[in-house]
Amino acid sequence: MLRPNKDKSKKVKLTKESIQKAKGIFTYLKPYRGAYLIGWFFLILSTSAGLLFPFLMGQLLGGGSTSATPTSAADSVQLINLKNINTVAIVLFILFGVQSVFSYFRVVIFTNVTENALRDIRKSAFDKLIFMPMDFFNQNKVGELTSRISSDITQLQDTLKTTVAEFFRQVVIIAGGIVFLLFLSWKLALIMLATVPIMAIIAVFFGRFIRKLSKQAQDQAAESNSIIEESLMGIANVKSFTNEHFILRKYGKAIEEIRALNIKSGVWRGLFISFIIFCLFGAIVFIVWQGLLMTQGPNPELSSQSFFSFVMYTIMMGASIGSIPELYASIQKSIGATENLMDIINNPSEKQLLKGQLKPAILGNVEFLKAGFSYPQRSDISVLNGISFAAKSNETIALVGSSGSGKSTISSLLMNYYTLNSGNILFDGVDIQDIDVEYLRSQMAMVPQEVILFAGTIRENISFGKTEATEAEIIDAAQKANALEFINSFPEGLETQVGDRGIQLSGGQKQRIAIARAIIKNPTILILDEATSALDSESERLVQDALDKLMVGRTSFVIAHRLSTIKNADKILVIQNGNIIETGTHDELIKDNGVYNNLVELQGIELS
Ligand SMILES: Nc1ncnc2c1ncn2[C@@H]1O[C@H](COP(=O)(O)OP(=O)(O)OP(=O)(O)O)[C@@H](O)[C@H]1O
Ligand SMILES: [Mg+2]
Repeated sequence: MLRPNKDKSKKVKLTKESIQKAKGIFTYLKPYRGAYLIGWFFLILSTSAGLLFPFLMGQLLGGGSTSATPTSAADSVQLINLKNINTVAIVLFILFGVQSVFSYFRVVIFTNVTENALRDIRKSAFDKLIFMPMDFFNQNKVGELTSRISSDITQLQDTLKTTVAEFFRQVVIIAGGIVFLLFLSWKLALIMLATVPIMAIIAVFFGRFIRKLSKQAQDQAAESNSIIEESLMGIANVKSFTNEHFILRKYGKAIEEIRALNIKSGVWRGLFISFIIFCLFGAIVFIVWQGLLMTQGPNPELSSQSFFSFVMYTIMMGASIGSIPELYASIQKSIGATENLMDIINNPSEKQLLKGQLKPAILGNVEFLKAGFSYPQRSDISVLNGISFAAKSNETIALVGSSGSGKSTISSLLMNYYTLNSGNILFDGVDIQDIDVEYLRSQMAMVPQEVILFAGTIRENISFGKTEATEAEIIDAAQKANALEFINSFPEGLETQVGDRGIQLSGGQKQRIAIARAIIKNPTILILDEATSALDSESERLVQDALDKLMVGRTSFVIAHRLSTIKNADKILVIQNGNIIETGTHDELIKDNGVYNNLVELQGIELS
């Protein structure tokens, strides 16, 4: 019973939504509305000038044959104002001259406005993306996101620059054409108009269907792009597992679907166009035939000039009508594209979600109070089960535990990448939720488990930790991270390109650059997530020395599998399945003879 109503409300909702999205775009056009209006002014002028063209052309073509007496209002106009062929030709030349100037300004102004607005949209979109909460990136594939944004922007670019203007022009030509046709011969005009509404209805129906098909193809294309991007980003993995063929098959399947969808939409588009053409040419022949009949006889209903004008209008309108569905589909696509872009732009950023405003002095006292957490993507699996511990200023806290026990999660929570489900995290007594997130992160530095460097030089990658760092600071940081030696061994030193994602460096080199990046930031709280895991024992000893020095005077959280590196920690937390099962210093935990002691024995660490 509710179904028809539901359908109706869905339609209303769609238009409402469309209007809302269109509004979103207007906010980007607003700063340039002056220029935009001038562009529209030129568009209106050039379109109106264009409307005169078929009339004058008809007069020129029909001028050769002598018309007897004026038979319609239009003919008297012609007789009074345009006495001979020469005049008509000159007027036509002037008309084209004027129109070319108008069109030039129209195109230039529209391009200007569009490019300005698009720059702002691009900026807003990236601005939004980069400030998105971590969970957003868990939910969205980066490749899909970037290709979607770039294709949406291209779509919007075409529409703002040309499609909207073109659509307007065609609509004006059709409307103006109808007026001229009625003026020239209402009888013939009515015959001609009898075919238009039918075509219009079919055009709308078809257009909608084709739009749906091309949207599907677009989505599929984004998906196939993400296959390429992911496999190229992880190319080493693909090769080591010799999964090239597997991925090729997967990609092949995806592009096959794109092909099928696009061909399907092409067939429909073809049917559509041929239908329009048949109707159009059929109609033109029919009208020419009927019109010629009217010009015959001793007392013709229609002068030959008017007849030619009429035919010219008919052809022009036919072309306009034929182009409308394509333009309409393109505008519809743009509305879809705008919707996507606005979805991103209107998504709440991290700052909007995390409302903390306080900027308390952070000395490095950190406390977890019954902290319970599960990742939003997997809310049914509890990763931390209400853990409590405290780190005093300048202490070193080591987190030990098997893989997947929740150690990296704790460091992500310290960074406020995610929000606790229950309990609290306090920094110097202030709840993490009340602290300004950027301020909080500015007080911390993390050397992550998986170091990712940016394409650029080593210098750029180190100064990422402090964008205004001086040369001396960069060299000092590199030295403290025990990285200077290998940096200097490269011919280009600090200017060495690290390649996309740091691919041209070894794991240990990347790690030391990440450490230098953390050192240069001079944080109050330091998080080292397996910071030395990729180093050989000798380098590890050197880096460990550096880290030991670095940890002095700051609160440090050290996650390590190699227990030798954390022997001197003030407190060791042994974590298992999201619970802290043992707490104490190395010596205490050895004495307790529990899980930690087992681990130590397994690793055969010398007890000293
Ligand atoms: N982004 C994520 N979304 C959903 N679940 C996650 C996410 N990251 C980690 N997990 C899950 O949370 C649990 C804890 O992961 P975490 O990375 O904290 O382990 P870890 O102790 O650091 O392990 P490792 O020693 O291997 O680094 C794991 O079960 C993992 O599958
Ligand atoms: Mg981890």
